[in-house]
Amino acid sequence: MDTLRIRGGRRLDGEWTVHSAKNALLPIMAASILTDDPTLLEDCPRLSDIRHMGDILQTLGCDVRREERALRIDPQGLCRHDMPDALAKKIRSSIFLLGPILARFGKATATFPGGCEIGLRPIDLHLSGLRQLGVIVREEGGEIRCDGAAMRAGPVHFDYPSVGATENVMMAAVLLPGVTTLHNAAREPEIADLQRALRFMGAQVSGAGTHIIRVQGVRRLRGIVYRAMPDRIVAGTLLAAAAASGGRICLRNAPVEDMCAIFSKLREMGCTVREAAGEVDLAAPERLTAFQQLQTQPHPGFPTDMQVQMLALAARAQGTSVVVENVFENRFTHAGDLNRMGANVMVNGRTAIVKGVGTLYGARVTARDLRGGAALAIAGLSAQGETVVEHAELIDRGYERLETMLSALGADVIRHSEQTQELGGKQP
Ligand code: EPZ
Repeated sequence: MDTLRIRGGRRLDGEWTVHSAKNALLPIMAASILTDDPTLLEDCPRLSDIRHMGDILQTLGCDVRREERALRIDPQGLCRHDMPDALAKKIRSSIFLLGPILARFGKATATFPGGCEIGLRPIDLHLSGLRQLGVIVREEGGEIRCDGAAMRAGPVHFDYPSVGATENVMMAAVLLPGVTTLHNAAREPEIADLQRALRFMGAQVSGAGTHIIRVQGVRRLRGIVYRAMPDRIVAGTLLAAAAASGGRICLRNAPVEDMCAIFSKLREMGCTVREAAGEVDLAAPERLTAFQQLQTQPHPGFPTDMQVQMLALAARAQGTSVVVENVFENRFTHAGDLNRMGANVMVNGRTAIVKGVGTLYGARVTARDLRGGAALAIAGLSAQGETVVEHAELIDRGYERLETMLSALGADVIRHSEQTQELGGKQP
């Protein structure tokens, strides 16, 4: 188990260049198997989710290798339509490989990815979208067997604008003769980035970023050299870290046009936020002011992946903040640890009431998911004394060495690898 040891009280002051987005790269990696040509993803961060997706592609027959900072995927050896169970469980978002595998083989097999800390994470919207394309989906004993022999273009409607389901169906449709329209599609910026990559590959896709996406099937696609969009959640997390410390930060390569909701909340808390093309500057007051209410919503609403970091800021802000988590059913798992640090967070279902306290105290806390882990690190920056965040390896799923970023900005952060006491059975 890895831990981050953070000594609070240091003001962050510096600049950082934001790496490419995990949630853009993962679907684009899946899309790379829609052609036999190789794809090169430039500036691909070393994240465990990216590594796991690469392992799955390798198992399907692709050759995946690092070339310096780039990731090269050669799908010429693609030969399997069944996703490896153990690997697929490591990364839930592998489920949006169903679409590309169906597009290539006309059939696909996977296991239910299962839930995680933040929720049950069902995939009914993915399967409904594929069924609306004529895929016969059998769910037997935890397995999903898809028969795409009768797949055809046509209208698809999502009961909820699911990001992954939108991406899955987009990729299932790009090689289908005819026009497929996705209604009530998710509008997250990462979907627009997937559309951009698909169009570079020769696909005819339009409308990403709106609720209606149109796909005109083409006969074949080509490989690309591509740089995914910057990570708006990593950027937001670093802004929150600077705000927690009462410091300042300049972010380069930030997708500012996709961060309005985050900027607005940070300004409401008393931060000065100046944005220019691809850059954002933040300066924080000594003590933040509580925001009245934060409601997470599908884009362009406030992003759920930034909720936990903002709650950690509210813990020490002047006043009371209300946080409503509308997207996932269990995204306050780190509130208990914040209260052990002296915070005053009351959780009732999807609502958390945060009464800001003047001081947080360092404690030994546990990361339960990547965003919760980052939020606890942020709380540690503003706490008195030392905070130890356990299972810091979870943070590596979406942040390329968060401790390196924070140290470069002036924080006192050290990463340790601790041998976990074998208590019988495998450690989590
Ligand atoms: C994507 O997950 C992101 N992951 C998540 O980021 C992000 O929190 C989420 O979108 C919302 O923005 C990737 O892109 C790899 P959804 P996804 O389908 O596609 C329910 C992170 O920290 N739902 O839009 O799984 C679901 O349970 C991760 O980087 C169904 O009910 O999100 C949730 O309550 C966490 N049935 C809501 O919809 C389905 O078939 C939103 O899920 C699918 C989803």
